[in-house]
Amino acid sequence: MKKTNHDQAIVEQFSRQAVPFSRQPAHSQEAFLNLMLEMSGVGPEDHVLDVACGPGLVACAFAGRARHVTGIDLTPGMIERARQIQQEQKLTNLTWQTGNVLPLPFRDEEFSLVITRHTFHHFLDPLAVFREMVRVCARGGRLLVADTTLAPEKRDFCDVEEKLRDPSHTRTLTPAEFLEMTAELQVQEVRTEFFKSERNLDAHLQASFPNPGDEEKIRKIFREDIGKDALGLGAHLKGEEIYFAYPVIILAGKKP
Ligand SMILES: C[S@@+](CC[C@H](N)C(=O)[O-])C[C@H]1O[C@@H](n2cnc3c(N)ncnc32)[C@H](O)[C@@H]1O
Repeated sequence: MKKTNHDQAIVEQFSRQAVPFSRQPAHSQEAFLNLMLEMSGVGPEDHVLDVACGPGLVACAFAGRARHVTGIDLTPGMIERARQIQQEQKLTNLTWQTGNVLPLPFRDEEFSLVITRHTFHHFLDPLAVFREMVRVCARGGRLLVADTTLAPEKRDFCDVEEKLRDPSHTRTLTPAEFLEMTAELQVQEVRTEFFKSERNLDAHLQASFPNPGDEEKIRKIFREDIGKDALGLGAHLKGEEIYFAYPVIILAGKKP
């Protein structure tokens, strides 16, 4: 299928991010991964699909408990990085696929557990992707979505900053929007948890690829937001350095 302009922006951005993204400690944080594992109820019989798996950190964590995990991502550099990380971790029960998640190139009800992390804010139509996740999930199977979420009054300003930092960013969803999608798709037994994914701004910018000239604009936005929190990220100083945290929603449910 022909790549849209947005797909091209994704591949351009994440080809550059593949290695630095995989090395950011926040992306391998055990407390975050363990909460996802626990909420998903993953076990030794599960066939898991990780949607837009990036460098495979989540997929590898799930492979430690599941029968098999498939990871799919649009960015070839991310899949290459995922293969390296799989080898480093000496895992054998994973399959990687380069491809678009819309539509997912899998049969109806092929997986018992379908997961995704840090992805919905990159999709032009997150509901359509979520619908695809439900389609490929078995009846009685489980779904898990984890992503940044913000209250409506913070979201628009934060989206301005995030689009400067990562031009492939689309829109942060509010907790209510996540829940509306689960209702629309008739996901049952929905459970949500919230988690703060903490970052050092300098380290985060070293793993980001804003357009030339935009990095200083981003630093200014964060500096001026200390004590105000219009971004909703709790920007604050530790010594000379700026720290903040993305509020993350983890949402788990069951396909009836
Ligand atoms: C922020 S990264 C998250 C990676 C991984 N899920 C994680 O949490 O470690 C977002 C990923 O979404 C992928 N992506 C975005 N849009 C996609 C699409 N339409 N189809 C497949 N992958 C996509 C990007 O290539 C990138 O690897």
